[in-house]
Amino acid sequence: MEPAGLATAPPLSLYVHFPWCVRKCPYCDFNSHAPRGEIPEAAYLDALMEDLDRSLPAIAGRPVETVFLGGGTPSLITAPGIDTLLRALRSRLPLAPQAEITMEANPGTVSPGYLAACREAGVTRISLGVQSFDDESLARIGRIHDAREAREAIDAAAAHFDAVNIDLMYGLPGQSVEAAARDFEIAAACGVGHVSAYQLGIEPNTAFGREPPATPDEDACAAMQALAESRFAAAGLARYEVSAFAREGSRCRHNLNYWRFGDYLGIGAGAHGKLSSRRGIVRELRVMHPRHYLARAGRDGFVQRRQRVSRAGLAFEFMMNALRLVGGVEAELFAARTGLALAEIEPVLELARARGLIEDAPGRISASALGLRFLNDTLQLFLPAAAA
Ligand SMILES: C[S@@+](CC[C@H](N)C(=O)[O-])C[C@H]1O[C@@H](n2cnc3c(N)ncnc32)[C@H](O)[C@@H]1O
Ligand code: SF4
Repeated sequence: MEPAGLATAPPLSLYVHFPWCVRKCPYCDFNSHAPRGEIPEAAYLDALMEDLDRSLPAIAGRPVETVFLGGGTPSLITAPGIDTLLRALRSRLPLAPQAEITMEANPGTVSPGYLAACREAGVTRISLGVQSFDDESLARIGRIHDAREAREAIDAAAAHFDAVNIDLMYGLPGQSVEAAARDFEIAAACGVGHVSAYQLGIEPNTAFGREPPATPDEDACAAMQALAESRFAAAGLARYEVSAFAREGSRCRHNLNYWRFGDYLGIGAGAHGKLSSRRGIVRELRVMHPRHYLARAGRDGFVQRRQRVSRAGLAFEFMMNALRLVGGVEAELFAARTGLALAEIEPVLELARARGLIEDAPGRISASALGLRFLNDTLQLFLPAAAA
């Protein structure tokens, strides 16, 4: 059954959220919690499966191309727990034969034996939250691991997985441009196929938001971003998205599906989903707090909010994803994923081209270098009010 207005259903991904961490990092506004006592692993895995079972009618036999176990810290799930989870997913879902199955891992929580067991259970890709290779920086941002543990985790992951990502952050408290460059150098040389490099954001409702540390100024952060791009490119890791760098063939298929405005079912506490159906594109949000999420088990479902994306908001939502990709997307993807005619946004595209924010490339929609640098300004043009 194809979604209304769409000639073909978009590829489908599955996101599984695990909402606990050893402790809360002071910069983090993800839905992650330090457990009060033992993590209720068995109860949570049961709730996830109930959540999935209730969602199956909405995805009606569509193959799942990618799975992402994100958090929080999914590497706190025991190895038998990962095995149980993946078996349960496989028994309920038509997983594509070459499905990419990523698991996020905190370097302070993994051993070589654990990673080997995750590979054995069917995980195909590991994403390590390294953040920095500098002990002082790691301590300042409250990480539970040091640089040595981060390097050991990378070596162990590389021994068992062909696909390894490391997350880095720059613009850290007290970090010099030279120190960030050292982090990029080490990341580029450590042999992984994928690096994500994020500028530290000071978010409200975090410890750093309440008491902001002194961080490098905008010019220093811009210099760090430029250095990341050149160091990684020199090592064969090309920037393909605002914050993502990969070797040929190592791009993250799961995230690419988000950026190409594909569909995804999100299960677990606070998980987001986006599903195309006969009634249009629907966004879902699961109950946020793990305690409340668990309390919904056996009752009336885990969805807190389900909302149809308005026709007026579709172009903005599409662009918010597609323009993050360096080189953008093929122009036909707009109609294929939104059901709208490209002609509807041609005047806005023309304006954006005239301002140098969108490339004048036939057959593609892509942000220019300027548009990528000032992505928010570029996206503003596609807001419903701006387009009116
Ligand atoms: C869910 S976490 C990854 C896995 C695991 N929880 C960990 O931290 O090791 C996703 C990534 O988002 C990035 N991140 C989190 N909060 C951030 C912030 N305030 N600014 C920039 N990047 C952030 C970090 O690089 C982090 O590794
Ligand atoms: S370990 Fe990861 S998800 Fe957990 S608090 Fe730290 S950055 Fe956030």
